[in-house]
Amino acid sequence: MRVLILGSGGREHALAWKIAQSPKVNKIYCAPGNAGTASVAENIDISPDNIQALLNFALIKGIGLTVVGPEQPLVKGIADSFEESGLRVFGPSQRAAEIEGSKVFCKDLMKKYGIPTARYESFNSLDQVKLFTKEDEPVVVKASGLASGKGVVLCRNGKEARSAIQSIMQGKVFGNAGDQVVIEEFLTGQEVSLLAFTDGKTILPLESAQDHKAAFDDDKGPNTGGMGAYSPAPIFTDELKKKVVDEIMIPTVRAMAKEGRYYRGILYAGLMLTESGPKVLEFNARFGDPETQPIMMRIKNDIVPIFEACIDGTLATQTLQWKPESTVCVVMAAKGYPGSYEKGNEITGLNLDENQQAMVFHAGTKLDNGKVLTNGGRVLGVTALGLNINQAIKNAYSVVDKIKWDGIHFRKDIGSKAN
Ligand code: AMP
Ligand code: GLY
Repeated sequence: MRVLILGSGGREHALAWKIAQSPKVNKIYCAPGNAGTASVAENIDISPDNIQALLNFALIKGIGLTVVGPEQPLVKGIADSFEESGLRVFGPSQRAAEIEGSKVFCKDLMKKYGIPTARYESFNSLDQVKLFTKEDEPVVVKASGLASGKGVVLCRNGKEARSAIQSIMQGKVFGNAGDQVVIEEFLTGQEVSLLAFTDGKTILPLESAQDHKAAFDDDKGPNTGGMGAYSPAPIFTDELKKKVVDEIMIPTVRAMAKEGRYYRGILYAGLMLTESGPKVLEFNARFGDPETQPIMMRIKNDIVPIFEACIDGTLATQTLQWKPESTVCVVMAAKGYPGSYEKGNEITGLNLDENQQAMVFHAGTKLDNGKVLTNGGRVLGVTALGLNINQAIKNAYSVVDKIKWDGIHFRKDIGSKAN
C-alpha cells in the first residue's frame, strides 16, 4: 500500500517512522515533510492546506491511506474531500474537527452533554465584555478559532482580561480566530493529556504522555507548541485513565455522534486534574506534537491496521500492545522560539548510530546539498527509551549533548516532573 502523510513536524516524522515498519506499506509520501521524513518517505512539495493539489496527487499515485498530522487541513475539510473521491483518510470530517476548530462549539457541546470543563461565557462583540469580567477574578481568555496553540491568554484579573480581549477582538492579534472569544474559569491543578483512537463508537486510549509547554526550565517563560514530553505519565493512574475514558472520552464521542458529527481519528483531550476531578481544557482533532514521538516509540503494534479500523468502524476488534519501557522526548529549538528565530543554521552531530532505543525525530529541518539545516522553531525531537523514566531521560540527553548548531535552545528538565 502507498501511504501519504501530511505535515512537516516531529509528529509527522514519528508517524512516518512507525508507518514505515508496517509490512502492509511499500511506499510513503510526506507532504511537505522535512529532512528526517526524507529518510523513510519521499517528500512532496505540496502544502498540507492545498487540498485540491493533494487530492490530485493521491488519485494519481493510488494512495491507499492518507494520515493527516496538523489540524488546519482537517478543519478545512480534507477528510470530506478525500472520502468523496473514494480515498481512505485517517482524521475526522470537517464537522467533527470543529471540536478543535471552534472553542465555542466545543464548550457548548460539553455544556449540553455534561462533560466536565471550566465554566465559561462566549461572545462575539466587545460591548458584552464588561458583563463577564470581575476585577478580582482570574480568568482565561481564548480566541475561538485556530491560532496555532497561541490563542489562550491567562489573566490575573478583570483588567488583564479586558486588555486581552481588546487585543484579540479589536487588535486582531490572532486574525479571524478572534472573531468569537471564550472567557473561562481559571482552573488549577496538574495538566495531562489523553489521546484515544476512535471510529465514532469505540474508544481505544493510548498510554499517557505529558507535554512541557513552557519555553524554559521549571515551566518558566512563554507557552510553546511543546518543548518535550514523556510517556507514561505516572500521575495518570489506571484508575484516573478509566475515569477520563468513562466520564469524558466516551461521552464526547457519543455526543458528537448524536449531533450527526461522527468522530473518526484521534481525539486528544487536554485536561486539568482539579480538586473536583479532571476537566477538559481543550480537545484537539489530531495527534499531539511532541507527544506523538514518545508514544510512537512505545507502541508495539503495526499501526496501519489501527488507522484502518478507525476508518472502517471496526476498532472494537483491535487492541494496542505497549513496550513497558518509558520514553522521553527532548525538543531542541532555535534560539528565540516561540518568538522570531533564525533559520538556515547547519546542524552537526546527527550521525549517531541510531538504533531502536533512541531516535532523532526531525521537526524544522531541511536538506541542502547533503547538509541538514534548521528550518523552523522546533528543530528536532530527540526521543529515547529507558527501563524507567530516569534512564530514558539520561539516554535522551546523552544524544542531545552531541547535537550542535548556532543558537541551540532546549529545556534541561524534561521528564523530571515524572519523579
Ligand atoms: P488550550 O489551548 O485551551 O489547551 O490552552 C493552552 C494552555 O492554557 C493550557 O495548556 C493550560 O496550561 C492553559 N489553560 C487553558 N485553559 C485554562 C483554564 N481554564 N484554566 C487554567 N489554565 C488554562
Ligand atoms: N503539544 C500540544 C499539541 O500538540 O497541541
